[in-house]
Amino acid sequence: MRREILTELYNLKGEFISGNSLADSLGVSRVAVWKHIEALKKEGYDITGISGKGYSLNDWFSVINPDELELQKQTSNLIKQVMFYPEVTSTNEIGKELLADGKAKEGLLIIAARQLQGRGRLGRIWDSPLGGLWFSLVIKPNLPLHKLPLLSLVFALAIARALDTFIDIPSEIKWPNDVFVEGKKISGILLEVSGQLDNIDSVVVGMGININMSAEDLSIENRESATSLWQVIGEQIPSSTILPVVLSYIEEYYYLFINEGFEQIRVEFKQKCLHLHKEVKVQRGSQVVTGINTDIDSQGTMVLKTETGIVSITTGDVEVI
Ligand code: BTN
Repeated sequence: MRREILTELYNLKGEFISGNSLADSLGVSRVAVWKHIEALKKEGYDITGISGKGYSLNDWFSVINPDELELQKQTSNLIKQVMFYPEVTSTNEIGKELLADGKAKEGLLIIAARQLQGRGRLGRIWDSPLGGLWFSLVIKPNLPLHKLPLLSLVFALAIARALDTFIDIPSEIKWPNDVFVEGKKISGILLEVSGQLDNIDSVVVGMGININMSAEDLSIENRESATSLWQVIGEQIPSSTILPVVLSYIEEYYYLFINEGFEQIRVEFKQKCLHLHKEVKVQRGSQVVTGINTDIDSQGTMVLKTETGIVSITTGDVEVI
């Protein structure tokens, strides 16, 4: 019943509906409606209730329509279970906790409208206010350890291709998995593995896409370097409209990789790579390596031609000089 109420409120796109109308259309009492609304509020949904006017769902733009979530489960080969939260610490954290408790299967998707402790690569904080699409997918890819980093490139390419369907300027990728538009970061990916090093059980693929965020929604230090879909196209699109497009590209590229290997993805990744054949500086821990990025090889590593010879980069932060 809670799901039906949420769907009704979502479909009204912020308009009010009276408790009586909700009760009538769902065949329950007004008191039952009130109780479910209170429960939804406790879950974190921002619902306004005004006597004489009824209820309205604020921030519906950042909520995923429950019908859309259901559709995903029914039509996707990859997505088997979906959880949506108005607010969480971090969707990756939830995924890892559920895995640790034995409650997460392959194909579990966790989505949040807002994260309070969103995390990024290399121990950084990930700004996750309302207006972004923050989600984590649990997969069990049965890959040897040395191939796991390839997943970063696979998912980055999927997100880049999905974003291209909404924008005119093609997105670019900064190795290994940052998606850029017009020189600014719009999406990032954080892979976290669970299991033993010689026996990886599951991977939590955390993906963040800035959608309806203004520059002010980002922390001051990120304002210059990050952007959002809204800032690029000048139009807001509900998260619920973006999600199925992103998930369909994720499914397509993930299965392409699992079934046919990395080669086709490598070709497409190189076409979108923003620093290929350019001079770059790579920060590897306390070490800095500079050189021309000549290739992304079949292991997904970044090949640099430096003054002292060829260097293969497996991890680090790239900057175009
Ligand atoms: C990065 O570029 O540094 C990676 C950012 C990854 C952010 C996503 S948002 C959903 C998931 N939950 C997290 O806490 N982080 C990832």
